[in-house]
Amino acid sequence: MIEIKLADQTHVKDIRDVCSAGYRATYPGLRSEEYIEQVIEEFYNLERIEKEVTEHSRQWGGYFVAVENGQVIGAGGGGMESDTLGELYVLYLDPNRRGEGIGTLLLDAVTAQQKKWGATEQRVAVAKGNQKAIPFYEARGFHFLCEKEGYFSSSEEGYVTLHYIRKI
Ligand SMILES: CC(C)(COP(=O)(O)OP(=O)(O)OC[C@H]1O[C@@H](n2cnc3c(N)ncnc32)[C@H](O)[C@@H]1OP(=O)(O)O)[C@@H](O)C(=O)NCCC(=O)NCCS
Repeated sequence: MIEIKLADQTHVKDIRDVCSAGYRATYPGLRSEEYIEQVIEEFYNLERIEKEVTEHSRQWGGYFVAVENGQVIGAGGGGMESDTLGELYVLYLDPNRRGEGIGTLLLDAVTAQQKKWGATEQRVAVAKGNQKAIPFYEARGFHFLCEKEGYFSSSEEGYVTLHYIRKI
């Protein structure tokens, strides 16, 4: 049985592992190896995740984890960008567990949290060409909104990010 729960300190290491593995499995061919490792180091380190599971707010609602037999097989989280706009910031699975409905369960949990906070729309940013995610978001009712160069800084020349949105 797969359970979705709001993560706590006991999940920190597992979140790091599943997000790092998911990230490494998703971006070869879309991002340089150096970039991939840089992002993992910045976002999926124990110190940061420890904070992210203990300090929640409307801006960051915490990580939700998918747990099966005590093992974390996916993680996701988001927050509010305005009074009515929620954003999904992160969603990764064990790369061997894609296509089983686990991503939908995690997205549903983040969405329920954001609706509780007043969200009527939800947005997500995805790397252009990420076919491991775009068909999923489209299947879940998101549509293309706009594209932007880079994501974290202007030095990411040629790395295009697509923004998708849906009503919730
Ligand atoms: C994106 C991701 C979290 C989705 O989770 P998932 O458990 O694989 O997806 P689900 O099984 O819940 O849902 C799949 C739905 O998307 C559709 N889909 C179509 N193409 C798909 C694809 N290439 N990958 C996943 N789903 C796809 C399925 O048909 C299904 O819709 P349906 O139930 O209406 O038939 C997961 O595939 C993943 O980890 N991808 C790589 C990491 C990533 O890119 N994360 C997002 C970064 S923005």
